[in-house]
Formats: sequence, C-alpha cells, structure tokens
Amino acid sequence: MEKKKSRVLIIGATGNLGHHLANASLHFSHPTFALVRPDTFSDPRKSQNLRALSDAGVTLLQGSLEDEESLVEAVKQVDVVVCAVQAKQVLHQKLLIQVIKNAGSIKRFVPSEFGLDPDKTQISGMDYNFYSNKAEIRRLVEAQGIPYTFVSCNFYTSYLLPSLVQPGLNVPPRGKVTIFGDGNTKGVFVKEIDVAAFTIRTLDDPRTLNKVLYFRPPGNVYSLNELVELWESKIGKKLEKVFVSEEELLKKIKETSYPDNMALIFIYSAFIKGDQTYFDIESADSADATKLYPELNYTTISQYLDTLL
Ligand SMILES: NC(=O)c1ccc[n+]([C@@H]2O[C@H](COP(=O)([O-])OP(=O)(O)OC[C@H]3O[C@@H](n4cnc5c(N)ncnc54)[C@H](OP(=O)(O)O)[C@@H]3O)[C@@H](O)[C@H]2O)c1
Repeated sequence: MEKKKSRVLIIGATGNLGHHLANASLHFSHPTFALVRPDTFSDPRKSQNLRALSDAGVTLLQGSLEDEESLVEAVKQVDVVVCAVQAKQVLHQKLLIQVIKNAGSIKRFVPSEFGLDPDKTQISGMDYNFYSNKAEIRRLVEAQGIPYTFVSCNFYTSYLLPSLVQPGLNVPPRGKVTIFGDGNTKGVFVKEIDVAAFTIRTLDDPRTLNKVLYFRPPGNVYSLNELVELWESKIGKKLEKVFVSEEELLKKIKETSYPDNMALIFIYSAFIKGDQTYFDIESADSADATKLYPELNYTTISQYLDTLL
C-alpha cells in the first residue's frame, strides 16, 4: 500500500513559482494548503487566482508571515512547509522558522531559495545581500534542527533566457549578440513548472532530507557560446558576436544603479564566475534532482527556445 502523502502548506501560492508548487502538490496527491494574506483575499485582481487554486482543491488559509497566530494555526494542519515568497522577503521567514521549531511536528521545510546555491556563489559584497540573506536562513534552519531540503534550481527559463541573456531585450537577438566573458562558462536554466514538480516530488523522499537538491538537467546546462550556436541553428542565421570582457562587465555593473544592475550581477555570477556549475554535486550533503527522479519529464533549453521562434 502506498504511504500516506504528507499534507503540504505553500506560502506564496499566489506568486509566480508558488502557484506551480500548489498545482504540483495537488498533482502528486498531497492534501494542499495555501497561506494567503488578508489583503490578497479582498483584492479583486487576485480573486480569479484564488478561485482557481480553491477550485483545483487547495485549502486556503488566511494569514501571513508577519502574523504568528496564523502561522501556528497553519503549521498545525500540515506535515511539510514550502515557502516561495520573493527574494526581498527572505528574512521575513524567521518567525515562520520559530513557529516550525516550536511546533516540532514539521517533517520537511523548504525555505524560499529557488536559485543559485547561496553557499557557493562567489560574488559576496556585490549582490546587495541577495545570497547572504538566503544563507542566513539556511544557518537558522540548521541551528534549529528543522528537517529541510534546500532547492538550488539555478535560473528559471523565464529569467534572462527569453532574450538569450541580452539585458534590455525581451526577445532573442536576430542580428547582433553580446557574449559576456569568453562565453565558455556554463549556466543552468530550468522552467518554473519543472522546478515545482521536482520540489514537490522530493518532499516525502528520505534521500533529500537535510540535503541541497541541485538542478543540472541534461539539456539545460549551456555556455553562452553554446546557447548562441543553438539559437543560430534554429533561425538558420549566424549572429554578429560582441564580446564584453570581465573588466568591462564589472565596470558596467558599477556604473548602473541598483536594482537595474542586478541582471548584470547575475550574469557575472553565472557566466563568468561559473557559480552554477564550478562545483561537484555528488557530495554526501547534496542530491541531483534529475538523477533522483528520471521518470519526471522537463523542458530542455532547446525545446524552450523553439517556443521563441
Ligand atoms: N531562479 C530564478 O531565476 C528566480 C527568478 C525569480 C525568483 N526566484 C526565486 O523564487 C522565489 C519566489 O519568488 P517569486 O518571484 O516567485 O515570488 P512572487 O511571484 O513575488 O510571489 C511572492 C508570493 O509571496 C506572497 N507573500 C508576500 N508576502 C507575504 C507574506 N508576508 N506572507 C505570506 N505570503 C506573502 C505573495 O502573496 P500576495 O499575492 O499576497 O502578494 C506571493 O504569493 C524566491 O526565492 C526568488 O528568489 C528565482
């Protein structure tokens, strides 16, 4: 007989990744709950979103990361908590972590990360605490002894890939293309719906308990040179390449004000420092998502680029 599926609470289920998490949770037959802010319940622009979640089978609970009582009530009803609030709210998870610690009943917590491994990035001092905040939450979760999985999915396909990593463009170039560095450092892109499916799939899996779940799916790891070559083969045309050196990129980052420079900083991190791929993911405290779940399908970069033709 199949083991009973954990009850899952999604915080941020009305968000970009969160709604995929909620749907994936239902898809994998988890009783699914969402913590929704009171203002969001009364926001007419969000009512359709909420109705869709509720019609699909998600139990909506009213509350927020700032409301301790709502967190206590919500955490009581579930076995697993997945948080998908946006990056600038990452430190707001501290109260939730305290509530989870006090409850003592949560079997897995997935904090809001869903990007590069904050313990591996090599851009400290230049990312406006983007990664150090996520690392701080990791340390707190570990110190409190809360069972966790940290999800390190690298870039979403909706981030930078729609322009073939050309800041300022919304579509891939068909004439001139900028390549940062020598173009040989590899980065990783994964579609949000796939990140959500692998994340939910792993919640009841003892192999990912207290581990970092990394994403480097075959077909989704590309250097800028390889990306351009792939795009050229699809449009049947060679592009004019303009190379921007590391020094030039660093200068551009300095000259551009925050937050407009964040895209350049992420490009520097991934495609010059190699922060998504420079390290081995076969260690004892990590797990490789696509190796663990070969039965799960995902969209490759080539398939994604086909949708942009
Ligand atoms: N890898 C990448 O390329 C990439 C790109 C973007 C984001 N990310 C990561 O993905 C994660 C989720 O970001 P996102 O952009 O998907 O977020 P998002 O779309 O902005 O959604 C945030 C969600 O959090 C909810 N929320 C906000 N404040 C809350 C509070 N106080 N209490 C409870 N819920 C609250 C929002 O609800 P309301 O509807 O009430 O506002 C919304 O549902 C973050 O960790 C971010 O760093 C990764």
